[in-house]
Amino acid sequence: MLYQGDAIHVERQQGEIAVLTLDLKAESVNKLSSGVIAELTEAVGEIEKAQGLKGLIVVSAKEAFIVGADITEFHAMFAKDEAFLVEMNQRVHALFNRLEDLPFPTVTALNGLALGGGCELSLTTDFRVMADSAQIGLPETKLGIVPGWGGCVRLPRLIGADNAIEWICGGTQNDAATALKVGAVDAVVPLEALAAAARDLIDKANAGDFDYRARRVEKGSPLKLNPVEQMMAFETAKGYVAGKAGPHYPAPVEAIRVIQKGAGEGRERAQAIEARAFAKLAKTDVCYNLVGLFLNDQAVKKKAKGYAREVDPIEQAAVLGAGIMGGGIAYQSAYKGTPILMKDIREEAIELGLKEARKLLVKQLERGKLSQEKLAEVLGNIRPTLSYGDFGHVDLVVEAVVENPKIKAAVLKEVESTVGERAVLASNTSTISIDRLAADLSRPENFCGMHFFNPVHRMPLVEVIRGSKTSDTAVAATVAYARQMGKTPIVVNDCPGFLVNRILFPYFGGFSGLVEHGADFERVDKLMERFGWPMGPAYLLDVVGIDTAVHASHVMAEGFPDRMAHEGKSAIELMFDSERLGQKNGKGFYTYTEDKKGKPVKQHDDEAHRLVESVVRESRELADDEIVARLMVPLCLETVRCLEDGIVGTPAEADMALIYGIGFPPFRGGALRYIDAMGTAAFVALAERLAGELGALYAPTERLKAMAERGERFYPDDNVPSDDNPSA
Ligand SMILES: NC(=O)c1ccc[n+]([C@@H]2O[C@H](COP(=O)([O-])OP(=O)(O)OC[C@H]3O[C@@H](n4cnc5c(N)ncnc54)[C@H](O)[C@@H]3O)[C@@H](O)[C@H]2O)c1
Repeated sequence: MLYQGDAIHVERQQGEIAVLTLDLKAESVNKLSSGVIAELTEAVGEIEKAQGLKGLIVVSAKEAFIVGADITEFHAMFAKDEAFLVEMNQRVHALFNRLEDLPFPTVTALNGLALGGGCELSLTTDFRVMADSAQIGLPETKLGIVPGWGGCVRLPRLIGADNAIEWICGGTQNDAATALKVGAVDAVVPLEALAAAARDLIDKANAGDFDYRARRVEKGSPLKLNPVEQMMAFETAKGYVAGKAGPHYPAPVEAIRVIQKGAGEGRERAQAIEARAFAKLAKTDVCYNLVGLFLNDQAVKKKAKGYAREVDPIEQAAVLGAGIMGGGIAYQSAYKGTPILMKDIREEAIELGLKEARKLLVKQLERGKLSQEKLAEVLGNIRPTLSYGDFGHVDLVVEAVVENPKIKAAVLKEVESTVGERAVLASNTSTISIDRLAADLSRPENFCGMHFFNPVHRMPLVEVIRGSKTSDTAVAATVAYARQMGKTPIVVNDCPGFLVNRILFPYFGGFSGLVEHGADFERVDKLMERFGWPMGPAYLLDVVGIDTAVHASHVMAEGFPDRMAHEGKSAIELMFDSERLGQKNGKGFYTYTEDKKGKPVKQHDDEAHRLVESVVRESRELADDEIVARLMVPLCLETVRCLEDGIVGTPAEADMALIYGIGFPPFRGGALRYIDAMGTAAFVALAERLAGELGALYAPTERLKAMAERGERFYPDDNVPSDDNPSA
């Protein structure tokens, strides 16, 4: 044994080959935490000292190779100053360079997922051999940073600037065939042949069949591109990538700049450029929030996994209603492999539901993402029916009939009598209280809400709503089913609007108030889109459906009259009265025409503006940031209330629900992170000023005010250690 640590050990194989194994104790995956990097430094030292070595093979004893750096360390680490971060990366560069410079051939055996730092570590060795099932990539730009351990330097030299830009800016996970094609790896073999293939490469390199020294020269030299090629590769890519990433995500374009600036340099100078760019980006709010988002996502998924572990998987599901939602639910369930019965009372509805599912599948078939066999299998998983005949064997039924409490209650009672005692019933209602729907059921413990978002196949969130009588098992089964469907379930308690709509409607309330103060709704939309929302509030209302929004706003006003009730007609109600229902009938705040592919295209509509003029009570000059505040503050305050009222368990779940459910700008991290970023005291002061003018919708809660006084945040764990306690 040359070295033995908690994460790394190095042995001699047949005396002359060192095998460095990554096997992080007490963890299911290998991560390059600061502790592991410290061990790697020691291990490399031992390898350098060892006599008579003729090669090094880097392997993993886990299912994945290395999933990357330890992201849980990032917030604390990135809180340190830029110079510290540059130095920190330079230290890793120096270590990786020592690995790269060992006086014998080196190879990495990529047995599974190799991401971020894991991919970068493998780039230091002369060769990479990859299992055909493994994946490799550099996802750093998704966290708002650039690869910082040499990825921006070695990858373009290995696979060409254009391929490297694609991998790094897209943050993609690439399969073995792709990696081999571009030259990121040297051989792809079945997993069981990996060790032998790695050894074979070393032997061939030692025998002179492969020139590993030439490899090193190539990896350490400037990029071989003439000025015209550089221009083509970098300038075109910058324009394209900037357009795709949008103004709020600087990392992908910065990655291109790093590759470009380093292109004419040797290894060390190019690495210094990378380190500086990394440190600069690591200090941005965008990076802070994207890292927070990753951690929240992990936390939310872990919680869901915990629930699902308590129950058996759902083997047979059913959905009532083959409409927009029912059809979508059937498709998604079938696509992800859970057979589903789709019941409606109308034959035409079933036909339509199936047609929609087929349309989605054919699109994937045409894009080459799905085989004919898989298409047939998915469709075979949907069993349409007009009767309850086969309901005796279903594990879980999702009710997705029309949004009418009487009809829903009757349908639920009816289905309850046809299913087995243990079957779970879940309603996809958007507004009706789960307790109210449970009132007539004989087994209310088996009932909960399962709120999907439209379009089901695209929207990642499912709210699982626990009524006061819902059992833990029913919640767990519903969470398990949502996971089987590839969704991110978040468990919330029952209240009008549940979590997401309860938070969204105060935002619409803010919008109505703005229109009444003379704000042009198209300007409001543009501002909010610039702020980072996928669409502004007027456009969103058109997409949701004006009728749906009016109906839901009445439910919300009834539930929370102090802040959500409204005097006189709102602009939204006015649209409804004029039969402008939004996209569904081609006109709302905008008019809609169809493009060649049948997609609705939004257009300015004078008539809508004329209509809205009648609700203007007082024309005000409104500054851009005032408009943003008047929309964001009610949304954030309602999120705070949901947390205080125990509707949602944690800040992480609240923020993720907003990002996954309504497209809250991800780079801002969510409503509670938004308050943290502004500072609780500054946020409360802003809310109080607006409340003085505009009333209860803007009034901060007592607890929030107390938090502000104490200087507390929603994410206290981000309070980072001071610089005299370095973690890297
Ligand atoms: N559309 C959305 O954006 C959205 C989003 C989230 C939740 N929801 C909720 O999902 C539910 C369904 O909404 P939708 O938009 O799909 O409505 P929809 O009108 O498109 O579909 C409802 C379907 O239910 C069928 N139906 C009526 N009575 C039935 C019965 N007794 N048994 C079986 N089927 C019956 C109808 O024939 C129709 O096909 C509603 O509760 C709605 O609030 C809708």
